[in-house]
Amino acid sequence: MCGIVGYIGKRVAIPILVDGLKKLEYRGYDSAGVAVIDQDKLLVSKSVGKLVALEEELGENYSQSCLGIGHTRWATHGRPSFVNAHPHIDCKQEFAVVHNGIIENYLEIKESLIEKGHQFVSETDTEVLAHLVEEFYDGNLEEAVRKVIGTIRGSYAMVVLSLKDPDKLVAARKDSPMVVGLGEGEFFVASDITAILSYTRKVYILDDGEMVVVTEDGVKITDFQGNPCSKEVYDVKWDAVAAEKGGYEHFMLKEIHEQPKALADTMMSRLKDDRVVLEEVALTPEQLAQINKVYIVACGTAWHAGLVGKTLIERWAHLPVEVDIASEFRYRSPLIDEHTLVVVISQSGETADTLAALREAKNRGAHVFAVTNVVGSTVSREAHDVIFTWAGPEIAVASTKAYITQLEGMVLLGLYLAQIKGTLPQDKITEIITALKKIPEQAKAVLAQESLIKELAQSFVNVEDAFFIGRSLDWAVAMEGALKLKEISYIHAEAYAAGELKHGTLALVTEQTPIIALATQRDVFDKTVSNVKEVKARDARVIGLTYQGNTSLAKSVDHVIYIPETIDELAPLLAVIPLQLLSYYASVARGCDVDKPRNLAKSVTVE
Ligand code: F6R
Repeated sequence: MCGIVGYIGKRVAIPILVDGLKKLEYRGYDSAGVAVIDQDKLLVSKSVGKLVALEEELGENYSQSCLGIGHTRWATHGRPSFVNAHPHIDCKQEFAVVHNGIIENYLEIKESLIEKGHQFVSETDTEVLAHLVEEFYDGNLEEAVRKVIGTIRGSYAMVVLSLKDPDKLVAARKDSPMVVGLGEGEFFVASDITAILSYTRKVYILDDGEMVVVTEDGVKITDFQGNPCSKEVYDVKWDAVAAEKGGYEHFMLKEIHEQPKALADTMMSRLKDDRVVLEEVALTPEQLAQINKVYIVACGTAWHAGLVGKTLIERWAHLPVEVDIASEFRYRSPLIDEHTLVVVISQSGETADTLAALREAKNRGAHVFAVTNVVGSTVSREAHDVIFTWAGPEIAVASTKAYITQLEGMVLLGLYLAQIKGTLPQDKITEIITALKKIPEQAKAVLAQESLIKELAQSFVNVEDAFFIGRSLDWAVAMEGALKLKEISYIHAEAYAAGELKHGTLALVTEQTPIIALATQRDVFDKTVSNVKEVKARDARVIGLTYQGNTSLAKSVDHVIYIPETIDELAPLLAVIPLQLLSYYASVARGCDVDKPRNLAKSVTVE
């Protein structure tokens, strides 16, 4: 959600903080602020809106302090406003705090602090942290923060800056990510590795229940009780350039174009002699023999990848699969035990609901498999087994390359389970793997149709509603297409199982309603075409999507987008690309902020 960055060293802090916040802006962007210690003053600058407003506010004559913290906000408690922007400070303006997460008992703390004479200016939960530090400070910042931790409930990654200790930063983590970057005589704290990648690739990843004191001389990590924690330095493999736009107008477009590479990287080294080899996986054939049910749990786009996973695992590994939205999963007492395999999918590996579902599943004895893009993320560290998607850093809020590699993760997992269970003959596995190896090149061929899709997207400028329809795996991809369109172009879009439209929703279809009809699944192709005819009869404009060489769909629709031929189970990997491009160009044509759609944040680390 929100983004945090902190710096201590010999360089001027503000440009480093602003640069870090720019990299984090995708996590939240309704307001931003920085605080530095300048001689005997705590200086705070904040602004509402995107980071550029903060840059204007700071101007050119900013403080030359070498110690500071910064924050970009995605509002949870209190609307986006100047007073609600972080950093928050105490009454005497001696302590500044930035925080990600939610302090659940902030109201009762606030009341008791007000009784003690503290004056609050914001509606946020975070402000209590600054006043609590003020209340507890007795000459030792670390101890004061420890007492704060003992008082609060909820989730947090927080960093505290103190005028009384102008040589250190104190940070703590519970249920919200935080890393410490190690430079030469300089150190960074950040909620996300991308914020500090241009300065260092060496980081400590804090675990829940850990806090850190960072001075110019080094880093001291302890648990909340003060016991030292030994940590390994983690060497980040992502390079800084991967988190830049590289000549593209938007990160989303760049990331769409990175998909062939992401697909190749994710399968490379996992396909050997026509078998899927997951060396990283500990699940044994004996354990798998005990599994009688699979749950796939995720949020948003990752959940859509899970819907494809359901069909693949059921079809190939003959295991029944339920797909659950993570925010619902644990509140309905799912029937899971040690015979259940729970697969969590998460690009960031930090989504609060997905993480909570993972923990719930572990508590109930299930074996948890994660598919995630971020090495070192909480999901990757807490799951029993992990398949990493090698998509590289995804910056645009709308997920594209992470989704496509999650789909690929589902293909790999489905085949892997089938291999162990012996539910697919080798010639079928060979056929699938042969087709899979062609997908990166075929994805390039789909991308080559960009100008055609851009042209189609121009007709979406004044569209208010759109429907995506499809059957079987096409329906799952239709859901992703609809989500992409609504999140970045603000067009109301829904996905329907094609056969379901006539049970009510058809009433909404008029000539003003574009319908995107996916027809890649050969076993239900004719039935999908019948559904297309139903909407055509209501004068809707239909864009169809099918395989090259299929000439019959063109007779029933207004435009057709073709994808290269593959086996039906792999079609989602190609079919989604035109839908991503359609959303992207519709968003551009409507003048929307593609990479930072309103009200959204990249990584949803609160429930
Ligand atoms: C939409 C999108 C979100 C995420 C969801 C889960 O384009 O990106 O729906 O898929 O917030 O995020 P992760 O995968 O990080 O758990």
